[in-house]
Amino acid sequence: MYDLRLAGILSTQITRYKFSGICMASLLKPTDENLNLLRNVLKSGGLVAVPTETVYGLAANAFDAEACARIFTAKGRPTNDPLICHIASLEVAESISSFNELSRKLARLFWPGPLTLILPKAKTIPDIVTAGLASVAIRCPMHSVFQQLISEIDFPLAAPSANPFAYISPTTATHVNENLGEDIDYILDGGPCELGLESTIIDARDESSPLLLRHGALSQEEIETTAGIRLIDKSSNITQGPSVAPGSALKHYSPKTGLTLSAAPIKEPAAVNPDTAYLLWKKPEGKNAENIFWLSASGSLTEAASRLYAALHEIDQLGYQQIIAQTFPEQGMGNAINDRLRRAAAK
Ligand code: TXA
Ligand code: MG
Repeated sequence: MYDLRLAGILSTQITRYKFSGICMASLLKPTDENLNLLRNVLKSGGLVAVPTETVYGLAANAFDAEACARIFTAKGRPTNDPLICHIASLEVAESISSFNELSRKLARLFWPGPLTLILPKAKTIPDIVTAGLASVAIRCPMHSVFQQLISEIDFPLAAPSANPFAYISPTTATHVNENLGEDIDYILDGGPCELGLESTIIDARDESSPLLLRHGALSQEEIETTAGIRLIDKSSNITQGPSVAPGSALKHYSPKTGLTLSAAPIKEPAAVNPDTAYLLWKKPEGKNAENIFWLSASGSLTEAASRLYAALHEIDQLGYQQIIAQTFPEQGMGNAINDRLRRAAAK
């Protein structure tokens, strides 16, 4: 645990509360006083879980190698999996990386927002952040609470999603507390994440062949149409096993309850096994059994994406023997949803 009394920030430790007898993190609302406290925690090398529009992140000062090392320990994340650096503006990003014309155009079009760019890194970013790579992942979140926090600190925040490695990403402060609360001290509660899926990752270092490394909350179609480019989809370059290329672990985002994908439509009469939770895209017609879960009554893919992780967290606590999830159409946010479901289903 990181003790603020040792860091000289507080004369007394903030009250932590107990959840099922276990010591959990303090959930702080974004008041001016709390934001100042958390800026000081970050300055002194502490970890803070922070809200973004995609998912909650587990943040540390990106210039502080020791603080960043604590992120890997808290998450149980292998150190060959690099972290995203979060910044307040394109100007700050230019001071820790170098942009070509295409990367700058993408940043101008989509920042602040759910887009991460892979760029050549400056020496000021410690190797632990980038897992020794010469590139760094950078993103400028648009969540107003995140912006308030970061606008008054003079370092980037390294932050992976605030979940134990390979588990479902958190879209509420409570998800963070239930799964990482024992390992961190502070969670900044900015409410539920609006988009609910991680950022889209693009490597445009080679302007003639920009790569899509991860489908995410900004759809491939939107990027291509708005920026007038074609992306080469490298997102399914996925492998299995412990020693994999950055971010390519096949098993990821996985609930404790075993999950299987079903390409065939799941209709209510087929959902007869009461020990199975069925996760569907749209609400089926008529009255639904309690083991039928759907992500959007109207069939909106954006709404479905925003609710995916919250639904998996909820189902995971209900004691079902298995989850059968329907695959989504491969369009818009359906690509990112299918990517997460495929990884959640991986053994
Ligand atoms: O929406 C998001 O992106 C969230 C919020 C908190 O910002 N963050 C997030 O971080 O999803 P994380 O660590 O869970 O996923 C970051 C991904 C990892 O798969 C990592 O391997 C990849 O980005 N990554 C980081 N730096 C990279 C680099 N230099 N080259 C290639 N991939 C990189
Ligand atoms: Mg993650």
